[in-house]
Amino acid sequence: MPKAKYYLHPFDFKKPNGYIDFIFTQDGLRPTVVGNPIYRLFIFELGILNQFRYISRLMTYDLRLSTIISDFNSQISQVKNKQELEEIRISFLGKKGFVTELFVQLKNIATEEKKAFGASINQARDQVTKELDAKKDVFESAELNERLSGEKIDLTAPIRKNNQGLIHPINKVMKEIQEIFSQLGFEFAHGPEIEDDFYNFTALNIDENHPARQMQDTFYFKNTPLLLRTHTSNTQIRKMIESQPPLKVAALGRVFRCDSDQTHTPMFHQFEGFVVDENITMGHLKWTLTNFLEKFFEVKNLELRFRPSFFPFTEPSAEVDINYSIQQGKIQIGKGDKFMEILGCGMIHPNVLRNCKIDSEKFQGFAFGIGIERLAMLKYGITDLRMFFENDVRFLKHFGFKPSEF
Ligand code: PHE
Repeated sequence: MPKAKYYLHPFDFKKPNGYIDFIFTQDGLRPTVVGNPIYRLFIFELGILNQFRYISRLMTYDLRLSTIISDFNSQISQVKNKQELEEIRISFLGKKGFVTELFVQLKNIATEEKKAFGASINQARDQVTKELDAKKDVFESAELNERLSGEKIDLTAPIRKNNQGLIHPINKVMKEIQEIFSQLGFEFAHGPEIEDDFYNFTALNIDENHPARQMQDTFYFKNTPLLLRTHTSNTQIRKMIESQPPLKVAALGRVFRCDSDQTHTPMFHQFEGFVVDENITMGHLKWTLTNFLEKFFEVKNLELRFRPSFFPFTEPSAEVDINYSIQQGKIQIGKGDKFMEILGCGMIHPNVLRNCKIDSEKFQGFAFGIGIERLAMLKYGITDLRMFFENDVRFLKHFGFKPSEF
């Protein structure tokens, strides 16, 4: 890059023992000599001062400005790359750049001329900036073009192995349930997995030492009232304590029971739904369950059988069976005259409502609970419950779902 030319500039005249400064006046530059008097004399005697006077007359600031600009133009016309461009930018527009320095000198200029000089350096700065930007664009688009031309796509290259993960059937079923119940206007709520005895049992009408507690083999924490929740019904209590009817709530999640064999795992998933409002009957419960199960199993005219049962937190209570048959070794839900149990339900016991400070004379409610694994096994033909939790990737490969099917 060509070196910057000499400009008539106060700092160019800096010498160790003193320096000559220039003051702009109406008729040009007037040099002022400051510093070491001997040096001053020396300059004077050499007649340099006269020479500067001469120069000063010629070199008005306009001339200086045009020198700077023409020098800039010649440099920019030869610039070869972005780095050189940056150097030019710094030497003209940087903190100590030629154009910037002119602004500093404004203070030395006679007041009458400040305005005109100020305007012309502003103009010069704009011009320089514009040209620098334009050049920068040229370099950048050239760079981009070069990169793009090197980045050709080889359509014949072999594709990479697709190692996309698959969605677990439990998650798939939970999503399906969420979709159906959201459409029915249910709100989804979460309850804690580590739960207080009160929410898991007592508030659900299962007093301490009540034999019904033995229906659920519970994991207790030593010396605290805490336990791993045995069902999602704890969410029902939490929600009812928190808010008054009308309530239409659903809860999905992990539950725990101290049980492990071919048909039981210590952890499994449940889905719970309940509605509390005025004039709620078992008719509403039946409609909700029929609607849900038909949608979930994608069948019409599913037969539901409500079999009387017992849960401390519902009265009356029922277990619901659905019809099915086995065809060519495969289970067909909704076809045939065999029945299997699918869920537990009932009308919320008035004691439970009262425990949650809900007026049991005014409000009634229904509730149901259902095992997610059971739904998944029936819908997707999975035969062994334990396979869900063995974390064998072959299980996922076979029964998993692509995210696009989720
Ligand atoms: N909580 C019960 C269980 O886990 C299921 C259920 C929920 C039954 C709601 C009735 C009403 O077995």
